[in-house]
Amino acid sequence: MAKKGMPRRIGVLTGGGDCPGLNAVIRAVTKTAIVQYGMEVIGIRDGYQGLVEANGEPLASDAVSNILTVGGTILGTSNRANPFRYAQEVADGEFVFKDRSQDCVENYSNWELDGLVCIGGDGTLSIAKQLMEKGLNVCGVPKTIDNDLSCTDVTFGFDTAVQVVSDAIDRLHTTAQSHHRVMIVETMGRYAGWLALKGGLSGGGDIILIPEISYTTENVCDAVRKRGARGKRCSIVVVAEGAKPKGGKLTVAKMDKAKHDQVRLGGIAVKLADEIEESTNLECRAAVLGHLQRGGTPTAFDRVLATQFGAVALDLVAKRQFGKMVALKGNKVVAAPLQSAVARLKLVDPDGPLVLTARKIGTSFGD
Ligand code: F6P
Repeated sequence: MAKKGMPRRIGVLTGGGDCPGLNAVIRAVTKTAIVQYGMEVIGIRDGYQGLVEANGEPLASDAVSNILTVGGTILGTSNRANPFRYAQEVADGEFVFKDRSQDCVENYSNWELDGLVCIGGDGTLSIAKQLMEKGLNVCGVPKTIDNDLSCTDVTFGFDTAVQVVSDAIDRLHTTAQSHHRVMIVETMGRYAGWLALKGGLSGGGDIILIPEISYTTENVCDAVRKRGARGKRCSIVVVAEGAKPKGGKLTVAKMDKAKHDQVRLGGIAVKLADEIEESTNLECRAAVLGHLQRGGTPTAFDRVLATQFGAVALDLVAKRQFGKMVALKGNKVVAAPLQSAVARLKLVDPDGPLVLTARKIGTSFGD
């Protein structure tokens, strides 16, 4: 595996939850490999599942034509397939876990790969780092609508998801106004509040609740009442799925034993709607945006970022700079050590510029 010189054949996979722009990266990786460096590309199916099960096939330039604007991933993905803790269902909902990482090493070698481009979030890139420690030449590309990866200003997919949240709030605003209601909009984002915060700011949310700033229901209700006292007959509350009341717990929809992160978040908007209605006597409705935030065509910003990320990832592979992740710093695409990128999550700074701007215009964080 320790070959020298220009890599001849590389693999590419997409892991974890999908997000808009994955296909744009696959396209850029494949085209740069073929056109710029004369390499061959193996497209690995369903994330690490394909690497464990040897499920992959050559990707020619034609295979990546017309996918720039298409959501999802043509390679498929999996957020259950961790080679180091590979789940096998033995009974309904019961799993045994095996270390199948050696299968990845063997398949990498059987395919005669000189490098592997792993496109994913913290789970996928943490596994990439572990595979690197087993001798694979890996290079990471950061994706996630949560925008919670360290070392990069932004991940691709985030801008598109923010736009979805913003559009949804615009629509909810008009119906909230007509019916004089409080609308509670639940966004994704896992343990980070970026999506709720940026989406909420761009949609003019009156109250924004994020994991990094815990709230009290009383403060949220007070903010709604104060708006009423100022003659505002509707309110928009944007709540991140990972937001928590002071001293309280996460709202968990379900536990999924086979997943890397077993916690499936969800349900906080419905809970809050009941609490606000009870306390204020105002009519409340909850809207959970869910996977709408992950689907569909990427924005122009995400298409360009994903293309830059894919092309620069291949430059790193060509220079044999493995163990790195491409990252956006200011307006430059740079390389960051994979190790630092996955060391900790990038969370919203409660005293940072976005929160301060929101506070200046009177947005409540329920704290
Ligand atoms: O990490 C991306 C994300 O969409 C999170 O925002 C969300 O909590 C999670 O994935 C949902 O995962 P699933 O598609 O497995 O329900």
